[in-house]
Amino acid sequence: MLFWRVKPLDQILENAEKKSLKRQLGALQLTLLGIGAIIGTGIFVLTSVAAQSAGPAMMISFVIAAVVCALAALAYAELSSMVPVSGSAYTYTYAVLGELAAWIVGWALVLEYAVAAGAVSVGWSGYMHGILHQVGIHLPAALMAGPFDTITVNGVEQPGTFNILAAGCALVITGLLILGTSKSAAFNAFLVAIKLLALGIFIAIALPAFDGANFEPFMPNGFWANEREIGGSLLTVGVTAAAATIFFAYVGFDAVSTAAEETTNPQRNMPIGILGSLGVCTLIYLLVAAAATGAMGAQPDGALANSKEPLALVLRELGYPWVGTVVAVAAGLALPSVVLMMLYGQTRIFFVMSRDGLLPERLAKVHPKYHTPHIITMITGVAVAVFAGMFPVRMLADISNSGTLFAFAMVAAAVLILRRTEPNRPRAYKVPMAWLICPLAIFGCLFLFLNLSGHTELLFLGWTVLGLVVYFLYGYRKSQLARGA
Ligand code: ALA
Repeated sequence: MLFWRVKPLDQILENAEKKSLKRQLGALQLTLLGIGAIIGTGIFVLTSVAAQSAGPAMMISFVIAAVVCALAALAYAELSSMVPVSGSAYTYTYAVLGELAAWIVGWALVLEYAVAAGAVSVGWSGYMHGILHQVGIHLPAALMAGPFDTITVNGVEQPGTFNILAAGCALVITGLLILGTSKSAAFNAFLVAIKLLALGIFIAIALPAFDGANFEPFMPNGFWANEREIGGSLLTVGVTAAAATIFFAYVGFDAVSTAAEETTNPQRNMPIGILGSLGVCTLIYLLVAAAATGAMGAQPDGALANSKEPLALVLRELGYPWVGTVVAVAAGLALPSVVLMMLYGQTRIFFVMSRDGLLPERLAKVHPKYHTPHIITMITGVAVAVFAGMFPVRMLADISNSGTLFAFAMVAAAVLILRRTEPNRPRAYKVPMAWLICPLAIFGCLFLFLNLSGHTELLFLGWTVLGLVVYFLYGYRKSQLARGA
């Protein structure tokens, strides 16, 4: 049942060959592309959520999430070196598990990309609010957070009405995408440099202020996920719960695989790009987490845990307010490029899905002047702006993670199935000990999923059921494969 309407691998590769994009990205550019997509709201903003959830033990959370990502990254590396085409997990699944599974993965990727774009927009707004405040511009509190988020006014936490900057960020990026801005390798390299510089400066200043006493108590909320009341709301906390949230910080390395059609020697360069960018980011994150905790502590009810611009806060507390502002400006400049990456990824997935007939083809209509899929971009952008304006960053990141974890698990499963069904197809990169690594990757994804909050899991299930309904009402009859195309 699951394996119906499998799209033959050769057909996928042939199609890609026909209208292939110019192959021009090498290993270094791919790694930069990966770092550009990975470093964002996760480290700049969710560090505070990790502190709230895990306390100083958030370092362990960062490691757990990195291990799961590394396992999944190996699987991505094998598939992308073998099937170097656009569409990422969705395309792989189409080739291996067939249409129904591919649809479910594509549907889950909406969570990964679109909701992540919203989360990063909200994260960006936190730093922008800080900068505006510093230069004496005071937005009304109601417009600084959504109705499901909170804002502190005169020391009192209260819900907002609509996070206007977060929504604005998503809309501006949507406009740029419609006009045809996409990931320019040179500009991306520039932004990566800004991000690395900002985090480098942060580490250089905060690490020397390291005080071991700030790590006590180390695990205030325990190791395993549990529910506690913090600041008046019931939160899922603990080291594993923080890992499930901070997983967001690593998402993006899979964006490298979407550039497979534009890569020179993808067999060699894809694995380097994917694993290299993930490795660099893991190292940086651990240093940032250690530096932030060592410098000012990370207790669940402390200042770091409650900040919406935690890295700038640490620097200010250490007596370097202007460096804090520099880091905030760097975040303000660089985070929108992550929003762009995520929105771009989303429109690309929708585009491929409608090309396959699983979504109405008119959605993929290309603008006569700008040559971009403007309709799908507009719909996606407005939706992203609405939820960026309404929800808190943690909720959006968690929802995004649920979809991403599902997609990662499917990719790991696809590797194993292809080893069986296509044992002789050339693989320039092979997952070492695949029969151990891939099941571990699936287990790791499931583990993190189960450590998300209960309502996130329910939301994911609801979204999947909705997806199934849409499929049977539409794609089941209309898909290219169903029509024998
Ligand atoms: N990893 C990306 C971020 O943290 C999505 O913003």
